[in-house]
Amino acid sequence: LDTIQITGGRVVDPASGLDAEACILIHQGRVVSVGRDPISEGPLTIDASGLLVLPGLVDVHTHLRTPGEEGKEDLDSGTRAAAAGGFTTIVAMPNTDPAMDKPGLLTRMRQEAQGRAAEVLFAGAVSVGRKGISLSPLQDLARASAPMFTDDGNNIRTAGLLRQALVQCSELGVAVADHCEEPSLVYDPGIAEGPIAASMGLRGVPESAETAAVARDLAVAAETGGHIHIQHISTGTALEMVALAKARGVRVTAEVTPHHLTLTSGDVERLGSLGKVNPPLRSTRDRDALRRGLAEGTIDMIATDHAPHLASEKDCPFNEAKPGVIGLETCLSLACSLVEEGLLGWPDLARVLSLNPARLLGLDDRGRLSPGSRGDLVLIDPGARWIPRAEAYQSKSRNCPYAYLNLQLKGRVIMTLAGGRVVSGRPWTMGPG
Ligand code: DOR
Repeated sequence: LDTIQITGGRVVDPASGLDAEACILIHQGRVVSVGRDPISEGPLTIDASGLLVLPGLVDVHTHLRTPGEEGKEDLDSGTRAAAAGGFTTIVAMPNTDPAMDKPGLLTRMRQEAQGRAAEVLFAGAVSVGRKGISLSPLQDLARASAPMFTDDGNNIRTAGLLRQALVQCSELGVAVADHCEEPSLVYDPGIAEGPIAASMGLRGVPESAETAAVARDLAVAAETGGHIHIQHISTGTALEMVALAKARGVRVTAEVTPHHLTLTSGDVERLGSLGKVNPPLRSTRDRDALRRGLAEGTIDMIATDHAPHLASEKDCPFNEAKPGVIGLETCLSLACSLVEEGLLGWPDLARVLSLNPARLLGLDDRGRLSPGSRGDLVLIDPGARWIPRAEAYQSKSRNCPYAYLNLQLKGRVIMTLAGGRVVSGRPWTMGPG
């Protein structure tokens, strides 16, 4: 179907400032018009009355596990999970096997990813094998479409390597993203240092693991003028450092995960290994600071850090479990709870889940709804309530703390369109005219 129109919905597009009922017309995968009267005959019509219509969500931090660990996730399941969660563009992290450090591999994966339920971009590894010793061929990887670089899973090992990467990447016009945990301060990964860790016989991860890494990154970024992107920020102190650096004109952006916005180290008592993530869940004070930081704009975006793992890798003693939780299919609803609480407005939500992530990737044909932009849209029912059930997920993995906690979520993705195609959900009002 070449032409499709979405009528009756409340269209929220922070790029243009639109927040009103409007009809969106899409032709051959691109938005043709926003706000013109519906066409009475011809196009497939989706009635979005009572729903919010936002630009498709963009996740700059997804672990797709391919190549190498397709038992946990693959291109098919990962993009279906993305579409179910309202994401139309996702960036796959390079901690795969092999690591994403060769342009040939990147080109092959991009080809394999074509025609899926969401567009997949592949972040390049900063260092060969993510080992932190020598730089990957950044220029060739960028030419092969890497939209950013990171050694995620690992901190970029040395300040010298980071500096070289920032210098090269600023010439290439892409950001260097960093997993900010100084490894020599990570005593037991995945749990914050404190009484809960101690009660489990673990030393955990002190706040300084993050702040030391963020301080280094900001210092090197300030000096080089390169763009540093702080991944999954978890502490209020690191947030203050980012705010100060921004005020001084350092090119820094930051992302926060849905789990760091909603859970705390206190939840690890109930969740056990399901609450093990890197960086760890932290105090209520940290969580509240992150929420404020997002509302005030110091944190630029929400990113899922969707990290699928096998049941056997979570259903084991804490210190043997793999770190990470899945997040693509619950992210939007968790963000809706921030709107419900009055922390964000709908335009803010679209900004932190779509516009700002698209900007980080340098993609100006998405994250917005204007003529010429991709026909990427998410239709949301802000009043829907649901309890996530891990069995119902599109993801191959089940490591979801919210399903485990039987948490009722409010706000739900009803339909996702990518490139003008319905990739998730079912039109309930369809047909010409
Ligand atoms: O919890 C995490 N899991 N944090 C990371 O940085 C890596 C990720 C993974 O790959 O499982």
